[in-house]
Amino acid sequence: MANRERAKRNKTITLMPDEYIYFSQKICNMKGIKNITVEDILNKTINNNLFDIINRLPQQFADLIIIDPPYNLTKEFNGFTFKSSSKDKYLDYLRSWFPEIVLTLKPNGSLYLCGDWKCTSALQQVMDENLTVINRITWQREKGRGASHNWKNAMEDIWFGVKNVKNYYFDVESVKQKRKVIAPYRQNGKPKGWEQTDEGNFRLTYPPNFWDDISIPYWSMSENTDHPTQKPEKLIAKLILASCPENGIVFDPFLGSGTTSVVAKKLNRQYAGIEMNEEYCCWAEKRLQSAETERSIQGYSDGVFWERNTANMQTAENRRK
Ligand SMILES: C[S@@+](CC[C@H](N)C(=O)[O-])C[C@H]1O[C@@H](n2cnc3c(N)ncnc32)[C@H](O)[C@@H]1O
Repeated sequence: MANRERAKRNKTITLMPDEYIYFSQKICNMKGIKNITVEDILNKTINNNLFDIINRLPQQFADLIIIDPPYNLTKEFNGFTFKSSSKDKYLDYLRSWFPEIVLTLKPNGSLYLCGDWKCTSALQQVMDENLTVINRITWQREKGRGASHNWKNAMEDIWFGVKNVKNYYFDVESVKQKRKVIAPYRQNGKPKGWEQTDEGNFRLTYPPNFWDDISIPYWSMSENTDHPTQKPEKLIAKLILASCPENGIVFDPFLGSGTTSVVAKKLNRQYAGIEMNEEYCCWAEKRLQSAETERSIQGYSDGVFWERNTANMQTAENRRK
């Protein structure tokens, strides 16, 4: 709960002791509820160990499930240490909860599962065992810790699976990318497939499965918390817009600092999230409260996803419009 001294421009979300008490009253716990209903968990931050409630969760309620589990690394999550293990042991860990989570997905629902190079083969295996994999997104994180005897780890995978390949929701129009045009081509003197603006020349493109336009949250971003593995809102926004209809339900069984729920709320979707750490749940609630008035998502403006380092252009274009 420590509230460290921070630089003035540091926007990291923290909790004062009275805020901690206030937000801890907003989170809920499923202890004592025999059969959990959708109403019990809808638009809630659920402070439970997933393993204590997994058998009592409602079935087939989620349009979209986003899972960002502990990777196969030794990592401290506010007092709980996840220990790295062999590939087989990590696969056992995944198999101990993944099939049950898939039961919560609607028959036409979609699921995304995140990981890094080291755990990705185990992730693919559980995905193949329980769903039909239809893609793997590679996210090039801007940052990564340098290694003296290895390549810097600067990418992650996001496996995309569905229950029914013939019937699943995917709205590609809502996740188009706005990219600078490197070689602007003209036909009869007019731009072909691109737009000339005061801010530069841009093209709207179909989103590929390689994502190089998203940075991990850092201290000067208003979405940042002290969570050690927080996902960027922009990344989650792409998944939600593409794979969950408006008012649909997004479920995240490893909620962390609340990114999935917060982005769902900003984009007019419903949500449910489980996280075993109380302080993380309180951060999620604080972010959810801010999302009532602050709906913006960094890097997503005017219905399109912009390239990195284009904040000034986005502001200029919004002003012009
Ligand atoms: C990789 S982090 C998720 C980060 C999240 N995507 C975000 O943007 O903040 C995984 C989270 O799962 C939580 N966790 C791990 N095991 C859990 C369990 N058995 N039940 C509930 N939460 C768990 C950890 O506390 C951690 O916050």
